Amino acid sequence: MLRTLGIETSCDESAVAVLDDDGRVETSFLSSQVAAHAPFGGVVPELASREHLKALPFLVERALEDAGGPVELVAVTAGPGLIGALLVGVRFAAALAWGRRLPLVAVDHLEGHLVSPLLSLDGEPALPEPERVLALVASGGHSAWYVMENGGRRRLGRTRDDAAGESFDKVAQVLGLPYPGGPVIDRLARLGDPSAVPLPRPRLKDAPHDFSFSGLKSAAIRRVRERGLAGAGAIAGEPPAAVADLAASFETAVVDQLLTPLPELATRHRPSLVTASGGVAANTLLRRRLGEWGRESGVEVLLPAPALTTDNAAMIAHAGQLAHGRGQLADPRRLDARGREVWQPPGMRKSSGGLGLE
Ligand code: KG4
Ligand code: ZN
Repeated sequence: MLRTLGIETSCDESAVAVLDDDGRVETSFLSSQVAAHAPFGGVVPELASREHLKALPFLVERALEDAGGPVELVAVTAGPGLIGALLVGVRFAAALAWGRRLPLVAVDHLEGHLVSPLLSLDGEPALPEPERVLALVASGGHSAWYVMENGGRRRLGRTRDDAAGESFDKVAQVLGLPYPGGPVIDRLARLGDPSAVPLPRPRLKDAPHDFSFSGLKSAAIRRVRERGLAGAGAIAGEPPAAVADLAASFETAVVDQLLTPLPELATRHRPSLVTASGGVAANTLLRRRLGEWGRESGVEVLLPAPALTTDNAAMIAHAGQLAHGRGQLADPRRLDARGREVWQPPGMRKSSGGLGLE
């Protein structure tokens, strides 16, 4: 593999990282825009693009200075995400690659999450991809199970409506808790009773491996209002015990939803490894339950360090290293960003001279 600079700007974090030729994380920097968007109650796309423009030159300069040697490859997230935000990263990466005569690889954000469990933040090289992996990706934009086999990826089940992280964020917002809601609900859930608030766990009859979070989210929001807890988290001091109970009950229902398909998928696909990635994979209960399942079933479970679950550029750099190994190069004069999900199994992607993500 080549020493690689990774750039990630698909949403509201500007992230830059350098991995060495064994996939060791040499530097990984992140500039969060949470404070810039906070007054607007959500991510404002135009503002996200501007903030990326401001942050990237400094982050990249610092990452290149701190790297263990000269960078030989540039990898950038080209989709899916906010189109304006993606374009800032894509054009920055393309200009850098063009100016320095370096090869450029376009990376799909989901592919980054999928390979993130192979990385370490303790100076270890990246693990080789095992033969057959059953992988959960649960983030603010996606929730799905995949099987990764012989370099190819196949989606086995996905959310039909909201993503898991999105449902954490919405319930937290109604409770008056800050964005992003997942980490705050996680912290409060440790103080609450997970059986205090009854919540549904809807399943889809025609697609048993798909998820639905919108019915669960709406039920949780109804309970918040019925119990007079709307905005209760915004009052100074530690939120009341009833908020912690709601947080614990909701977190348990989301984790139940995500893990229901696991036993059957594991029986059917016989994975050598089970992984989880994406911001929701930082969740304490999800990590604990996956660990317990692994011990009971005898299947190895590998979870990324919490800092590698949420959006970061180390995972993009590593996905770029692997894609480069498969000969997937992008043309810096033509590389464009794609807002919508364009994910396809890497084995099926053409080695494109143009958009990289054909
Ligand atoms: O992967 P990510 O950084 O961005 C996307 O690609 O969407 O995921 C962000 C999402 C947010 O919805 C956030 O609330 C959620 O991950 N999240 C968590 C936790 N940490 C972040 N959800 C539950 N528990 C957590 N500890
Ligand atoms: Zn993500």
